[in-house]
Amino acid sequence: MTTASSRKGLFVTLEGGEGSGKTTQAGFAAAFLESCGYKALVTREPGGTQLGAQIRAMVLSPDNGHLDAMAELFLYEADRAQHIARLILPALEKGLAVVCDRFYDATVVYQGMARGLGAEKVKNLHKQWFGFVRPDMTLLFDLPAEVGLERALNRVQGHDPEGRFEKEALIFHEKVRQGYLNLAKGEPGRFCMIDAAKDRQAVRLEVEKALAGFLKARPKALG
Ligand code: TMP
Repeated sequence: MTTASSRKGLFVTLEGGEGSGKTTQAGFAAAFLESCGYKALVTREPGGTQLGAQIRAMVLSPDNGHLDAMAELFLYEADRAQHIARLILPALEKGLAVVCDRFYDATVVYQGMARGLGAEKVKNLHKQWFGFVRPDMTLLFDLPAEVGLERALNRVQGHDPEGRFEKEALIFHEKVRQGYLNLAKGEPGRFCMIDAAKDRQAVRLEVEKALAGFLKARPKALG
């Protein structure tokens, strides 16, 4: 079994609320890591595998507004189980830098905190089964919930086949933001805050600075 300490690769996750721009920045982060000598793989949750793409369509479809919170939780966990087994671990074992747009922090925040299933329960679930897969570094793209939501809603006109979470009330998105801030406060060594309210290029520079600082502090991470 691969553990965080035995594997060669680097595992970087990107987290944040709706409209935080992390998906664009995932590509920039991978390009930067490649310029530092890594072979990088960009992936995402949900949807990083073929099965995951089907789960993504289910959990994000506004037609599934009736989805029970527990059912939602286990769909995300199923997506993650497949993703870890088929993509993330094999890539880390090969020494790749895996740049993942959302990982288990999203489940702790969205299902555990915002949906109210309990952050500790969700954390324990992950720890029990996937505790050996921990991100080396997590970039948290933070911005006011109303700004992110407005950006996300402006991006899509009319019916969005992935718009289920954008339909949630502002209070839900505020809980998400607060949830992420609390997680970051609890694990300052892993989380790195990025001011996502800035323009794309300024955010890109912040991301590159954060990655450079991380690599400098952890030269052994270079596979
Ligand atoms: P995104 O790909 O635009 O970030 O959308 C994924 C959505 O799924 C986003 O609203 C957050 C949500 N989500 C959860 O609720 N729990 C999870 O575990 C993950 C990975 C995402």
